[in-house]
Amino acid sequence: MKTTNTTDSIKNITPGESGSITTSLLTQSSEDIHIAAEILRAGGLVAFPTETVYGLGGDALSETAAGRIYAAKGRPSDNPLIVHIADTKDVENLAASVPDKAKALMEAFWPGPLTIILPKKPLVPDTTTGGLPTVAIRMPSHPAALELIRESGVFIAAPSANTSGRPSPTTAEHVMEDMNGRIAAVIDGGPVGIGIESTIVSLTGDIPTILRPGYVTKSMLEVIIGEVHIDPALIKPDPNIRPQAPGMKYTHYSPKGDLIIIEDSKYPDMITENVINKINSLIKEQPDTVVLTTAETASRYNTDRIILLGDDHGTSLTIASRLYSALRKCDDLGAAHILSENFSQGELGGAIMNRLLRAAGHKVIRVD
Ligand code: TXA
Ligand code: MG
Repeated sequence: MKTTNTTDSIKNITPGESGSITTSLLTQSSEDIHIAAEILRAGGLVAFPTETVYGLGGDALSETAAGRIYAAKGRPSDNPLIVHIADTKDVENLAASVPDKAKALMEAFWPGPLTIILPKKPLVPDTTTGGLPTVAIRMPSHPAALELIRESGVFIAAPSANTSGRPSPTTAEHVMEDMNGRIAAVIDGGPVGIGIESTIVSLTGDIPTILRPGYVTKSMLEVIIGEVHIDPALIKPDPNIRPQAPGMKYTHYSPKGDLIIIEDSKYPDMITENVINKINSLIKEQPDTVVLTTAETASRYNTDRIILLGDDHGTSLTIASRLYSALRKCDDLGAAHILSENFSQGELGGAIMNRLLRAAGHKVIRVD
């Protein structure tokens, strides 16, 4: 039974004449992980759960597999992939040099939601790094991800398993929405824990720099390695400043409808009466408007088209874990007009707003 499945799956790694392949839904059982590992070794693609979001995995050292990842996602080829490993020792195989600060971060945060950028070794193909001389490396903590990397014996290149530009997937169903017919298999590990992508820190310059905010915050990094900078392009988006992580320049996570963030100009992270009144007046103009909010203020809006991200604005772990499914739900509701409160309160507020602002194409109405 196992052999038959494996053989069938391997035959099924590239789209045939129909342009589509059958995507198998796998469990986290060792039999199924074995099948997924065979697919990866044969150069095929498998989506799998991590603690952050679902990844779309392929052999990181294979130009062909990396090329298939870009094709399946419809991703621009200058946007590099993160290489996932299951053993810290493997960093030496991928990176040309590993500074002490990198070692300290690995020790403190791996396995876990931190990606480290280092100079690459020639072994890592340019296709995987989007032509950059550096490589992004991460050791995820999700048991199925670790088992898949170990069982396959390959380093797994894995971007988030969404179509380019769509919200990242936090369930296997989200992956199927975007990837059914494009990849060989999806391992269903249920909803992920964190819900937003890993923090990316570059150790290629003089001072470690955050290129993408995430669960591991600046202050958590600074406890371990001292001063850390944030890529200036993240702080104030400016078309003339190019983000150091190529992926951060694209509009991302966008629902199909028009999403606008409403905030108070004096107290941006508070949901003030001004914010509530503005949202209600916009609902009056467009009664089909969907509102992204929490239980704290939901009852104040004159609509039942509400998506709840948490109990209150301080619960940023819950808000992060629900953000992408909320953005997808806007599409399910056919929402043409979406208004969101500001969610910058709480530890993960910065990471949440980084995603929400890009989903909104930076459209913000500030009221006073
Ligand atoms: O949590 C995560 O990191 C997830 C899971 C699946 O591990 N992966 C993920 O990958 O978010 P992706 O491809 O969606 O985002 C990778 C980001 C992109 O913005 C890309 O431009 C940046 O990492 N990146 C990758 N390699 C880089 C490099 N060498 N230098 C600078 N940025 C890099
Ligand atoms: Mg992504």
